[in-house]
Amino acid sequence: MESEKLLEIKNLHTAFKLQNEYFDAVDGVDLTLYKNEVLAIVGESGCGKSTIANSIVGLHNKNYTKVSGEIIYNDENLVEYSEKQLNEIRGKEIGFIFQDPLASLNPLQKIGIQIEESLIYHTDFDKEQRHERMLQLLDQVGIINPKRTANQFPHQLSGGMRQRVLIAIALSCKPEIIIADEPTTALDVTIQAQILDLLTELQNEINAGIILITHDLGVVAQTSNRVAVMYAGQIVECADTIELFKNPLHPYTRSLLQSVPQADSQEELHVIQGMVPSLKYLERQGCRFAPRIPWISESEHEKNPVLHEVSKDHFVRCTCWKNFHFKDDGGSKI
Ligand SMILES: Nc1ncnc2c1ncn2[C@@H]1O[C@H](COP(=O)(O)OP(=O)(O)OP(=O)(O)O)[C@@H](O)[C@H]1O
Ligand SMILES: [Mg+2]
Repeated sequence: MESEKLLEIKNLHTAFKLQNEYFDAVDGVDLTLYKNEVLAIVGESGCGKSTIANSIVGLHNKNYTKVSGEIIYNDENLVEYSEKQLNEIRGKEIGFIFQDPLASLNPLQKIGIQIEESLIYHTDFDKEQRHERMLQLLDQVGIINPKRTANQFPHQLSGGMRQRVLIAIALSCKPEIIIADEPTTALDVTIQAQILDLLTELQNEINAGIILITHDLGVVAQTSNRVAVMYAGQIVECADTIELFKNPLHPYTRSLLQSVPQADSQEELHVIQGMVPSLKYLERQGCRFAPRIPWISESEHEKNPVLHEVSKDHFVRCTCWKNFHFKDDGGSKI
């Protein structure tokens, strides 16, 4: 049986206005989120991960952002939603967790009130029910003394505790979808592991689908079921997590994996020099990764690269992967 689709993104383009001209930061992204899965979006800084997240829930400033394409949720296109319609689903059907909990929480308000606020907006609980649900949520995200924490201000909590509070807020209305944008980047490794475990545990309880945005392949491996690898506004590879780690094909994916040090490996690390080009200087034609692998000849790239399904549910953009080899590995082909 095919799993249930929660969200279907089709040909998404999100462009920012820079000196009177619009440039696509997200350029033709197709992506589906299924019920019960953790879908990771991974890629270097600036490749467009957060832009996708913000497009889903209409968090961009409309004065200088254009979003087109389809983001289908419950048979409706969120791209066409008004601010009022978006407000109805934000925080209720779609919850978010962002990188910096301190920036997402109101510094002047006690934790308990901030959690209850979301309940005031989206539920018809009375005061007592809200208070009870708030304490229950704090307990659910592993806070030992919910009553005490509810009475504290954000600055009185540690980073990990604050992130737990944000997860409690995101879960407060039992959303169908959770978007977690670099939820553990600001935390140290042990706390990061605890928060990721908590996220997946709670996700199993409420059967939500999670879009997990990260640049950390360790987080991908630990948490996700499926991965979309992004480069310069486009998805270059998408596959099940196990398949992607076992059989990475796109040169960019391979370079991401090769640049992660393995404790038990004597192998040399391969690093592909360069960085994601900025929006203005992005080559709009051809394979966007080509400038970073100049030793692969032009004829090996497609003129208009698309995602090909190379094996079941494994998609790769451009044909250049077929002849790709790392520059310094003796030219061995894959
Ligand atoms: N509000 C904005 N105005 C103009 N350009 C923007 C805006 N937000 C993002 N961009 C540009 O869009 C591109 C994608 O940015 P985005 O924040 O989505 O990247 P990201 O993959 O989330 O990176 P990071 O890992 O650093 O969070 C970048 O070139 C960025 O400079
Ligand atoms: Mg980001």
